Amino acid sequence: MSTLPNSSSPIGVFDSGVGGLPILQAIHTLLPHEHKVYLADTAYAPYGDKSAQDVQQRVLAIGQWFSAMPVKALVVACNTATVLAVEALRAHSTVPVIGVEPAIKPAALASTTGVVGVLATARTAASASVAKLVDAHGQHVHVLVQACPGLVDAIERDAPQAHIAALLHTWLQPMLAQGADHIVLGCTHYIVVRDLIQQLVGPKVTLVQPSEAVARQLMRQLAAIGQLSNHAGAGEVAFYTSAPDVRAAAGLIGRVWGAEVEVLGF
Ligand code: DGL
Repeated sequence: MSTLPNSSSPIGVFDSGVGGLPILQAIHTLLPHEHKVYLADTAYAPYGDKSAQDVQQRVLAIGQWFSAMPVKALVVACNTATVLAVEALRAHSTVPVIGVEPAIKPAALASTTGVVGVLATARTAASASVAKLVDAHGQHVHVLVQACPGLVDAIERDAPQAHIAALLHTWLQPMLAQGADHIVLGCTHYIVVRDLIQQLVGPKVTLVQPSEAVARQLMRQLAAIGQLSNHAGAGEVAFYTSAPDVRAAAGLIGRVWGAEVEVLGF
């Protein structure tokens, strides 16, 4: 029998790999006293290549692992897992589940050229959730949704910057040619390469990403159920990966996180 979470329990955060780390960073900055557990589901990356059913099953198994810990909230730091599986996960969960969807609304509201680009995985780009967001917030702007096959894989392989830049260039150039002034990073992995994307689009284009908004949403939900920690010291952050080669995965996790970290096998 698993114990019930309390305000001292950790917050669970997961992604198919290193993509959720910028979200974890934003959570750590906003809620520094909270304990956190991060799972990079590297063995299953990229989720975008799997069937919806496979991703749902995997996400539910991950949810069970976190609830046995137990965590007091779960952040799905992956757009693809959110659009494919967050409802199923919520239905099985007794703690708040916070997902992440492409930030089309703020980008559409802020655009002055009336053209907004969205970079996402093929599954997210083709999802009903994105179609709904475009319908709801794209009446007065032209929203260019672009699937980026191979980009998550290149980031997980730690491919040379020039290779990643060449991939990005082919998707960004048409958006810029059409006058996009805001580009939504609709996959958390793309936040990892945001400096490179900013270099490619130039300083006049604003990149829109959800990390801080997700952290604030998590804080609101924990506050609403009286589960914010009253721990005074620094929160601990534990890292796990499902990668068969834990050491190699730990190297990439540490580089993206910005410090060497101990990573355990899932
Ligand atoms: N970081 C995930 C996202 O936000 C990548 C999905 C994948 O593994 O394909 O969509």
